[in-house]
Amino acid sequence: MTINIKKCTLEDLRILQEISYETFNETFKYQNSPENMNAYLERAFNLKQLEKEVSNISSQFFFVYFNNEVAGYLKVNTNDAQSEEMGDESLEIERIYIMDKFQKHGLGKYLLNKAMEIAMERNKKKIWLGVWGKNENAIAFYKKMGFVQTGAHSFYMGDEEQVDFILTKTLI
Ligand SMILES: CC(C)(COP(=O)(O)OP(=O)(O)OC[C@H]1O[C@@H](n2cnc3c(N)ncnc32)[C@H](O)[C@@H]1OP(=O)(O)O)[C@@H](O)C(=O)NCCC(=O)NCCS
Repeated sequence: MTINIKKCTLEDLRILQEISYETFNETFKYQNSPENMNAYLERAFNLKQLEKEVSNISSQFFFVYFNNEVAGYLKVNTNDAQSEEMGDESLEIERIYIMDKFQKHGLGKYLLNKAMEIAMERNKKKIWLGVWGKNENAIAFYKKMGFVQTGAHSFYMGDEEQVDFILTKTLI
């Protein structure tokens, strides 16, 4: 079994779009209406939007490969790319998504460690993220990885307002 990681570039937009759609669908389609899912997918993952995000110098995307197959991806933000004003000493994990069939093989932890490595290289004091309050699987994973809840914020899935928990891990 081999695990590899690669930073996404503008050459990778189509595959990034594909894996973003696929993982988002797998994760949320059973708890959301098709209308709200489609509205979100179109807004968040259209090629123009992804191009803008990949080009942002304060954001980084990485693909993770399991036995040379793309299995998931990570997006981290610093400075003003963060989706909340958390300041320059924080790093946000905006997305960490592993395809269903590759879950529970250590890939999520691998990407989380990558995010921690980037945060420490940049002398950040904490890592934070927003996770849907109903996403019990991800919440259990983050808690296992040492995150604690420090707040909540609103998130729109289509026209439905949902609550995200803010989870934080302090770096020493
Ligand atoms: C959450 C997610 C990233 C976890 O990734 P993963 O590759 O399945 O997790 P890993 O195999 O790396 O697990 C790492 C550790 O967390 C534990 N863990 C993983 N999922 C868990 C769960 N649901 N409950 C409790 N512990 C869990 C593992 O047992 C493992 O523990 P260990 O280090 O003691 O062996 C993955 O399930 C996923 O992509 N889910 C769908 C997308 C999603 O919800 N993303 C988050 C959006 S905010």
